[in-house]
Amino acid sequence: MRRIYLDHNASTPLAPEVAAVMRRAMVDGFGNPSSPHWGGMPARELVEKGRRQVAGLLGCAPEEVVFTSGGSESNNFALKGAFFARAGKAAHIVTTRVEHPAILTPCRFLEKLGARVTYLPVDSTGSIDPDDLRKAIVADTILVSVMHANNEVGTIQPIADCAAIAGEHGVPFHTDAAQSVGKIPTLVGDLGVDLMSIAGHKVYAPKGVGALYVRKGVSLESLIHGAGHEGGRRAGTESAMLTAALGAACDLAADLSGMERVRALRDRFWIALQDRFGNSVALNGHPKQRLPNTLNVSFVGRLGADILAQLDGVAASTGSACHAGRVELSPVLEAMGVAPEVGMGAIRFSLGRTTTEEEIDAVAARLSGILL
Ligand SMILES: Cc1ncc(COP(=O)(O)O)c(C=O)c1O
Repeated sequence: MRRIYLDHNASTPLAPEVAAVMRRAMVDGFGNPSSPHWGGMPARELVEKGRRQVAGLLGCAPEEVVFTSGGSESNNFALKGAFFARAGKAAHIVTTRVEHPAILTPCRFLEKLGARVTYLPVDSTGSIDPDDLRKAIVADTILVSVMHANNEVGTIQPIADCAAIAGEHGVPFHTDAAQSVGKIPTLVGDLGVDLMSIAGHKVYAPKGVGALYVRKGVSLESLIHGAGHEGGRRAGTESAMLTAALGAACDLAADLSGMERVRALRDRFWIALQDRFGNSVALNGHPKQRLPNTLNVSFVGRLGADILAQLDGVAASTGSACHAGRVELSPVLEAMGVAPEVGMGAIRFSLGRTTTEEEIDAVAARLSGILL
């Protein structure tokens, strides 16, 4: 069976350019980046070049980039780091109902430690209302965390408006940009954010590396204490191979011109599905304010998992791959008020740089064969 990969929001393949950088860095960067001799220096150069490249994509200073193990660690660092930096004081956090578990689970953990968390609702498109954020902020709010774009439905949140509201109250603003980096602009200055998480494997770099942008002056307690790596913010000897990979991937991601092709393919796919299935397919997510690669559609009255099982060779997701195996309605669709008979039929197709028109047409035809 021909294999077609439409699950780029779960993970992207390694870009060939990134693989080439990794191969070289694995050999040339074997030393400890903290060693001041000839063995360590090439490794340090690779790490710092990677940091400059990440900073280039985000539009920040290299010193504001902290390398982590991925999106989950970056999110945990932002939330717990903000909480522990104010240990012993009352702490309130504002987030949304549609965040990734890498935000919601640390929030629940912090609630056990005494934090109060407000989970903002979303409308039927998955968007929050900035006015709800304004009303939620109180005197002891220590952090607002709103994802840039949703991993399941692709809805893009009004981050600049939300960050401005947090800023008016002097509250640091974090955004989880794991899904938006490389798909839409993510300049921290334009968005007005203080903290931003990114994940390597969503942007054609490998798993095991990510970064947190920490605006100068924002105070976070470390999660990993040890020697003074990463400016004392995250202990552990840096991997030249992984940091160079993330840097190379960020260099490639800065060129968003290819996303117009991806958006056109995604829209072609949606039109093909509407032509074939009419009112039996429904779009989940915002019709316009949505990641250009993401198409989450419900086959009404069907089970997404059953359809995917018959779509042999096609890699896509029901709900999100991070919570695969679950048969209940996805919490994101539930928060959007999607009816169970619609939501249970949801499939997320997420396209990528290498997706072709022929692949899209083949999947649409295969779906007709299964469902009509
Ligand atoms: C929006 C979002 N945040 C965080 C993560 C977690 O990133 P990682 O897998 O690098 O830990 C993901 C992964 O699916 C994601 O989609």
